[in-house]
Amino acid sequence: VTPADADPASTLVEEVVLGDRRLLLERPADPEALLDESRFDCDEFLPYWAERWPSGDALAVHVSTLPLAGRSVLELGCGLGLPSLAAATRGARVLATDWAPEATTLLAENARRNGLAVETAVVDWREPGAFIARGRFDLVLAADIAYEERNVEPVVALLAELGAETLIADPGRRHMYQLLDRLVDDGWQLDTVAAPTLPAGGIHRARRLR
Ligand SMILES: C[S@@+](CC[C@H](N)C(=O)[O-])C[C@H]1O[C@@H](n2cnc3c(N)ncnc32)[C@H](O)[C@@H]1O
Repeated sequence: VTPADADPASTLVEEVVLGDRRLLLERPADPEALLDESRFDCDEFLPYWAERWPSGDALAVHVSTLPLAGRSVLELGCGLGLPSLAAATRGARVLATDWAPEATTLLAENARRNGLAVETAVVDWREPGAFIARGRFDLVLAADIAYEERNVEPVVALLAELGAETLIADPGRRHMYQLLDRLVDDGWQLDTVAAPTLPAGGIHRARRLR
């Protein structure tokens, strides 16, 4: 239940340390205040973009150790987009996407706030349309995107079009194992980077062999 006096527009700014960088991240102070029944009725939209999730944090920490200068990086379901900000600190050319326009708008502001270049786009995995024409990316990032079964097939299809290497962080959700099985069926080779803050899951690296 959302308290009647919750202010959906209220935000806070917190400091996030990624490697040798300190970033300022603005985010909604009370994500539950963003719950909107009319948007849920339309496609079961929930404002998950507005929270800091353990998978996004863990993937950002990992990405902040990678040599990405000049590499093209795409993030799917970016939410607050810490992995995209981390990739930008490493010199990558970053495109961050989410189906929630509020997410990409706030991420663009956070990139500016930190002097980082991050391009953003509103993309629904189920209707990627013209977005596919942007071609392939050196690295695709995705954190906690397998929390509903309906996400699995669209993400598998999109990865086949978009990337040769993908890092997917997950807290151990059961649909992630379904997604990983489907990637293996599609010819991806998998290994997992342990992430201490994701004890039941990890960061799954998928590379396309054929
Ligand atoms: C659990 S949140 C994770 C957010 C962020 N990656 C993180 O780990 O902090 C899932 C994200 O996927 C986005 N999402 C859900 N369904 C989507 C869809 N069909 N197309 C694109 N993004 C979607 C949500 O808006 C949300 O930002």
